[in-house]
Amino acid sequence: MALIRLDKYLSNQAGMSRSEAREALKSLRVTVNGVTEKHYDYKVEPGKDIITVNGNEIAYNEYLYVLLNKPKGVLTATEDKHQKTVLDLLPEEMRRRDMAPVGRLDKDTTGLLLLTDDGVMAHKIISPKSKIEKEYIAVLDGAVTDEHVKAFAEGIKLADGSECMPARLKILGENTASITICEGKYHQIKRMFGTVGLGVNELSRIRIGQLRIPEGLAEGEAVLLSGREELLLKISKSS
Ligand code: URA
Repeated sequence: MALIRLDKYLSNQAGMSRSEAREALKSLRVTVNGVTEKHYDYKVEPGKDIITVNGNEIAYNEYLYVLLNKPKGVLTATEDKHQKTVLDLLPEEMRRRDMAPVGRLDKDTTGLLLLTDDGVMAHKIISPKSKIEKEYIAVLDGAVTDEHVKAFAEGIKLADGSECMPARLKILGENTASITICEGKYHQIKRMFGTVGLGVNELSRIRIGQLRIPEGLAEGEAVLLSGREELLLKISKSS
């Protein structure tokens, strides 16, 4: 693997800013293969050299996969001049240059959101061709009926004429349903319910493939998945 500068390694892998990395080097808190290193332009080989800061190993991950329990009121975007974005919720060590949400949840939608800097993987998850199921719980402003279940299973035609793939609707209560789709058109679920005269009061995503919000992960909190393999395994099958 190509060699990279030590300050770059630290900012990519430890979430430090360049100046924090240089400060750590200057104050002799960084080692490479057990030897203290103070030069920011020292070259290291990612995945081979062992780098520590304050005695903690900074392991090499080519990409990060983050699972966020999105709260209401936060934009699914990487930056915004006026409003808080999902990136603002991530702890420093999960914020990397290319980190971006995979797909989009509306500002008032809560629940499971993946973020990664692995663009190929993000594309795979979003593509309807991958047929990865996304399940939501919707609280509606009217009753859900068996007729709606049938219409969703047959495929809804949206007001603009675009066709949705068949969706699984399960009645959970008079005004509550779970809905499972494999695509992600703009405001898709709200628009699908709109075609049958129902408004969505609350919407929360609870599943992507087999991936669910880990128990104890509060709204606004994020965790790292262990890697690409774990993510692939979890999203490749439906539950
Ligand atoms: N469909 C919607 O309408 N909103 C979301 O946030 C996600 C899916």
